[in-house]
Amino acid sequence: METLVLSPATQLAPAAPPWTLQYLPRVDSTNLRAAALPAWSAVLAGAQTAGRGRNGRSWISDSGGVWLSAVVPCPEPRARWAVLPLVAGWALIRSLQELGVAGPRLRWPNDVMVARRKLAGILVERFSSETAVIGIGLNVFNSPEDFDASLAGSTVRLADLVMLRCSLLDVSEAVLGSIRQAYAVLSGGGFSGIVADLNRSWTPASRVTLQLHGGNTLIEGEFLGIDEQGRVRVEASDSGVCVYDASQVQQLRELDGSSGDAAHLV
Ligand code: BTN
Repeated sequence: METLVLSPATQLAPAAPPWTLQYLPRVDSTNLRAAALPAWSAVLAGAQTAGRGRNGRSWISDSGGVWLSAVVPCPEPRARWAVLPLVAGWALIRSLQELGVAGPRLRWPNDVMVARRKLAGILVERFSSETAVIGIGLNVFNSPEDFDASLAGSTVRLADLVMLRCSLLDVSEAVLGSIRQAYAVLSGGGFSGIVADLNRSWTPASRVTLQLHGGNTLIEGEFLGIDEQGRVRVEASDSGVCVYDASQVQQLRELDGSSGDAAHLV
């Protein structure tokens, strides 16, 4: 196990400790390895044997991707931790833009897409009352479709989008720096700015389906963006504007004829 202290350029708040990053060539899940670590620790793996996806699904994590978990203090008030997937998504998108990716966007609540393909997924988990673990799976050189043919055409890799001149560690450092900045914005009361930024980035009048947890309920309607709590707003023709938080929604899918929306999941 290697412990790295990142360069000052990746830090934002001088008062906060630097990220302490452990690199592990092969683990079950970086989120599990990070679970008991203190805030501002991070775990980067070369490969995961039991990568965790949203809703209890697994995440294909062969070598060549960024499999990264970052531990942050639970934001105050604690109920705000539910907005962390959006804050992390916003941070990831900003770091991808800085790496030269054109048009990355969030598919609420936790997928980073380019056009209709999934580039990255985010899984925020809480293993203690004090901290939250932000898990990021970013396709870089890996080919998840080699392990699950049904993913062919639905995922995209960073290396397909930009001429990558840096290492997976450099990419991870950029992401961690961006998470720190986004966390500072959140702590400074700036979540409404993040919401406004995300709402500007979404395609107007797009249609979505929402599959709710605990039943077969499928809601179809116009995606109206997110509200000040980070909840999705959808206008269904029969029931008007409905608001759901991420814990209520199993899956959001975008409709407009594309089938390229399968998650990077098995
Ligand atoms: C999703 O889209 O369902 C979220 C996938 C999150 C995968 C990442 S890879 C690093 C971290 N460790 C895990 O076990 N999962 C997350």
